[in-house]
Amino acid sequence: MNSHVLRCIAVFFLTAGLLIAAEDPGKTASSHTLTIHADRGTHTISRHIYGHFAEHLGGCIYGGVWVGPESSIPNTRGIRNDVTAALRKIKVPNIRWPGGCFADDYHWKDGIGPREQRPPLINTSWGVVVENNHFGTHEFMDFCEQVGAEPFICGNIGSGTVKEMAEWVQYLTSDHGNAMAELRKKNGREKPWKVKYWAIGNETWGCGGIMSADHYANEFARYSFFLKNYGDNSLYKIASGGLPQDYVWTETIMEKWSRTDGWLQGFLGGFSLHFYAVTDWGKKGSATKFTENEWFTGISKALEMDQLVVRHSAVMDKYDPQKKIGLIVDEWGNWYDVEPGTNSAFLYQQNSLRDAVTTAINLNIFNNRAERVKVANIAQLVNVLQAPILTDTEKMILTPTYHVFEMYTVHHDATLLPAEIKGEEYSFGGRKLPGVTVSASRDQAGAIHVSLCNLDPNRPATVSAQFRGASPKTVSGRVLTASEMTAHNTFANPNAVTPQRFTDARIAKDGFSVTLPPKSVVVLQLK
Ligand code: AHR
Repeated sequence: MNSHVLRCIAVFFLTAGLLIAAEDPGKTASSHTLTIHADRGTHTISRHIYGHFAEHLGGCIYGGVWVGPESSIPNTRGIRNDVTAALRKIKVPNIRWPGGCFADDYHWKDGIGPREQRPPLINTSWGVVVENNHFGTHEFMDFCEQVGAEPFICGNIGSGTVKEMAEWVQYLTSDHGNAMAELRKKNGREKPWKVKYWAIGNETWGCGGIMSADHYANEFARYSFFLKNYGDNSLYKIASGGLPQDYVWTETIMEKWSRTDGWLQGFLGGFSLHFYAVTDWGKKGSATKFTENEWFTGISKALEMDQLVVRHSAVMDKYDPQKKIGLIVDEWGNWYDVEPGTNSAFLYQQNSLRDAVTTAINLNIFNNRAERVKVANIAQLVNVLQAPILTDTEKMILTPTYHVFEMYTVHHDATLLPAEIKGEEYSFGGRKLPGVTVSASRDQAGAIHVSLCNLDPNRPATVSAQFRGASPKTVSGRVLTASEMTAHNTFANPNAVTPQRFTDARIAKDGFSVTLPPKSVVVLQLK
């Protein structure tokens, strides 16, 4: 064979190899460099960004949390033991309740006193079903105590009154000297509870009363003024935000706050942002039957959270440069079509590896924006929307979303370490997204945790990391992944997607190198 023929053969194989790699990128890993500034840790990641949301909606409260003391399902004073045990494991810091849209139709006095005497209620927000009000204020506070979570109450501004909301605060938090404290004692609770997080209405642009920003700014001030602190309880009052991209709403509230110096200042603790990663509300798609195109659009929608946080924060910065007011992302998550055969008003959906990846994306964003994001609540706790827990009468399963929350507990109240990642993007159909997202923190014992998420469902990702100001000697980790992007846990197969020990990370000089499997969430510990 002469050299020309040899050259032709070589060129043929090289070209064929490149074509195969381009058509099937699963064969090559994407490559990334990561810098972690261990010398620049100034902000604490509030554990409250790992909060949850429980609404009187479908099977969230009734069946998911509350089964009643007479139930054969193991319970403590009517609250499911399996659910509380699972929630304790992920160290749920706060639970937002009773809604959502339901909150602005909820009259708390109907949910206290002997349960058999409580008036029933038609849930006009979710399915026009009758509920018996058996899960009310005392049951919610008991639930929080059993879980070890702080209560986050959303008050009714839409159909309620200032008096009604102010009396709820008294009932919960005042020790003596008013009729509400006496009523609480009569209902069996001698000592007041502690309640910090208190929202004044929910989505007041919509189901919370269809208000304009100006109108709501005035209402917020009025309600806020009359919600008092009793004893050493100090309320952290949260204003309703507008639609996700409504920056004018944010500006209106912040401007009023800054103008009412001495009156409204100090009355506003946080400002709410709600964002569901939905591309088309008319065609949301299935939670478990989807193509790579839907994977890509779902992931790309979830990534929009960062821009929302940045842009709302920029508006807030104008009035509050010291970042005293928190951005409270008190509803976030994926919203799909309900599971076939279930009530469309109950919002029951399954939960796949795609949800695990978008959970990691969001939690990385909240960690990295810890200076402004002080609380966040995934929607919702059990059996509704992107739920970490699903129940079926006496059975319970943990979803991929749950496992990410469990893996990320290492970041609770840790010091954020700024991290920058650069590298190849995830390409699909001519569109591109970041390949890997990351956040890092140092805990109080000095261990560093790095959470990495490979968004590409086809290609592994190699990450070469350098620390500034740290030289850890050991690395260990856990990974959540599966062979199919639609993988999910079912009652028949509850452990299809669960965290596993991860061994593909190596210590390097002042850093580490790691290969992330496609579509995976990895949390590393470095010491
Ligand atoms: O989480 C479901 C609903 O979504 C909530 O009730 C409402 O606040 C939001 O629109």
